[in-house]
Amino acid sequence: MTAMNDLKLTTATACGSSTAHESAAAQVAGAATYVDDIAEVRGTLHAAPILSPIAHGRLRGVDATAALALPGVRGVVLAADIPGDPILGAFAHDEPIFAIDTVQHVGQVIGLVVAETVMQARRAARKVVLDIEALPAVMTVHEALAAGSFVLPPVRVQRGDAAGALARARHSLQGKFEVGGQEHFYLEGQIAYVLPQEQGQWLIHSSTQHPGEIQHWVAHALGREQHHVRVECRRMGGGFGGKETQSGHLAVWATLAAVKFGCAVKMRLDRDDDFMITGKRHPFAYDYTVGFDDDGLITGLQLTLLANCGFSADLSGPVADRAVFHSDNAYFLGDVDITSYRLRTNTQSHTAFRGFGGPQGVIAIETILGDVARTLGLDPLDVRLRNLYGITDRNVTHYQMPVEDNILQPLIGTLAESANYRQRRADIARWNAQSPVLKRGLALTPVKFGISFTATLFNQAGALVHVYTDGSVMVNHGGTEMGQGLHTKVAQIVADELGVSFARVLVTASDTARVPNASATAASSGTDLNGRAAQFAARRVRDNLAAFVAGLDGCGAGAVSFAGGKITSPACTRSFDEVVKAAYANRIQLWSDGFYRTPKIHYDKTTLTGRPFYYFAYGAACTEVAIDKLTGESRVLAVDILHDVGHSINPAIDIGQIEGGFVQGMGWLTTEELVWDAKGRLATHAPSTYKIPTAGDVPAHFNVALWPEANREDNVFGSKAVGEPPFMLAISVWEAIRDAVASARSGAVQMDAPATAERVLGAIGSS
Ligand code: MTE
Ligand code: MOS
Repeated sequence: MTAMNDLKLTTATACGSSTAHESAAAQVAGAATYVDDIAEVRGTLHAAPILSPIAHGRLRGVDATAALALPGVRGVVLAADIPGDPILGAFAHDEPIFAIDTVQHVGQVIGLVVAETVMQARRAARKVVLDIEALPAVMTVHEALAAGSFVLPPVRVQRGDAAGALARARHSLQGKFEVGGQEHFYLEGQIAYVLPQEQGQWLIHSSTQHPGEIQHWVAHALGREQHHVRVECRRMGGGFGGKETQSGHLAVWATLAAVKFGCAVKMRLDRDDDFMITGKRHPFAYDYTVGFDDDGLITGLQLTLLANCGFSADLSGPVADRAVFHSDNAYFLGDVDITSYRLRTNTQSHTAFRGFGGPQGVIAIETILGDVARTLGLDPLDVRLRNLYGITDRNVTHYQMPVEDNILQPLIGTLAESANYRQRRADIARWNAQSPVLKRGLALTPVKFGISFTATLFNQAGALVHVYTDGSVMVNHGGTEMGQGLHTKVAQIVADELGVSFARVLVTASDTARVPNASATAASSGTDLNGRAAQFAARRVRDNLAAFVAGLDGCGAGAVSFAGGKITSPACTRSFDEVVKAAYANRIQLWSDGFYRTPKIHYDKTTLTGRPFYYFAYGAACTEVAIDKLTGESRVLAVDILHDVGHSINPAIDIGQIEGGFVQGMGWLTTEELVWDAKGRLATHAPSTYKIPTAGDVPAHFNVALWPEANREDNVFGSKAVGEPPFMLAISVWEAIRDAVASARSGAVQMDAPATAERVLGAIGSS
């Protein structure tokens, strides 16, 4: 196992070494370019959004007279200015680019004010007078369910006979709880910079996880073919799922302004507008009945998931599907009946966020198991272990996928041992017994996360590898860099394949003109897909060079090896650069494309059954917290994590992803609370009222270790995806807080997430 203190940052090439992030030095020096750093061309205009102040209403008129009179203002852009389809080119085709006749949430964009400077545009946007007749709004999932307000039809997954099993169960428990959404809070806000090119073509610099979708959406809004639109993204200052679709709106809006005024337009949201406009993690509500035996083994489960999707579908279908797929987390559910409602409310349209619905599924079963354990007076870890997926039986998920790569038992066992779980459980009980105000809690929870896009078609990727005549290498692939280290890993893979140093390989900006039709960088699959595509591209170039050398030396191409910047045949060792130069002179192709598609996966969209995932990533976390009975405050004291990334391509980056994912998950479940008031206005739209974790919230004891085995499926370098799974390790914080609350009161723990001080105090009650 690799622990953080064993890590040495290196400039070594090989996959498996902790090569520093390809942009680390430039980012620290402030020399890494983000969209807002790109030098503006002369005459660039700036657009600011006109927002609806009403959650639901009839839009009767827009009066921009006062705005137009302000200095620097060039005009407004409204739905009537859209040359193509006024409905966004999204999956569900249910979202207007600008509000047309109705407004559907506070913060919906009705149009733009375009001016010479950002501040002029923003000031003027606030002077636009809107005539809106308010209509009744649907704010909660319960209101939406009662009103039959759905963005998509419900989905039900059943196995066995849940109702019968519940009727026969030795014990049963019913419960309801809610889990809040989460703002992405990427450090770099949403932005697009649009540059008109010749003959009706457009170049768009976008901070986006999905350049290809921006290209489609813009072409759709303009009524032009996709080849007229080129989208580029060198890097994002964080995406976290919030730039999978939401970045597309900005690009479409800015392009519409650029079309109307015939010049370059930049649109950058300030933080408050970003909060008000863009979708967040879906808030969920749950309703369950669980049956279990004396040992806490679940014998039947009925679970209803209510997803608050906001005013349009966006990615809610696949997000809600993933919640259903992860409602088992690590546990075998025999007789089970899960219903998932996708509810339309008058709020922002909720979207992808790290885990993509997975966390909302996992937290349901972990909460249920915590409740079951407390009902029986058993250690929650024992109840969890008892319910784990088996190896030879009890090993098929509720969506009919066999769990073939299960390492949960040894992984949890190793962590329980290294984190000294049993001893600490006893110590904490003793400590709590003599501590009247502060109470400690402990929880060890696992994660099993399915890797692949659930929409099978997205599991494909392309790459280009160019070797120039001096032996330097350039890679371009369909993935995007958002800080997660994708470009670093891809460069390591290509360097290894060609046997050259990391420094010889440059990864360039994602660009729809280089690699077309790329999927979003999402579902944690960036390296699995693009790393493999790049490896295949590099392998073709290597094969060309090997055949060339074999011809020179009269050996088989298989006898030619590549390592340490040298190419070796049985007859001769030459430098890579020398061979490349000679190969060029002999008209050998020194560049290639590569294409990869994930094998084995398939599933039926209507019944949600099949093999949606190529493999599972596993992990477990043991977390200790303390709460204050009088104030409800909590603090995470110690965290030990053992996580499975297969053979790590870059341990430093992977451990960074695990730490970052965990802390982000901790924020979701503790301090990050989104509050909409009765009129549907988001009251928490700035860091002053919305509290993300800071360095001071990171636990003093924070150990991360990597599970040593390779991926059992054939994946690049034997690695596993790491971007999202660790987020769900933070559910151990939630369970540890509930454990602490349980020792501060008698009876069941009833609490919604996030476990803010108010909620913890409320859950303790007056007992
Ligand atoms: N890490 C950083 N630093 N910034 C991010 O925006 N996004 C996460 C995760 N880790 C994110 C991150 C999300 S939501 C996903 S899906 C993956 O990175 C995407 O990248 P990958 O597929 O290359 O892991
Ligand atoms: Mo990540 S939520 O799949 O962008």
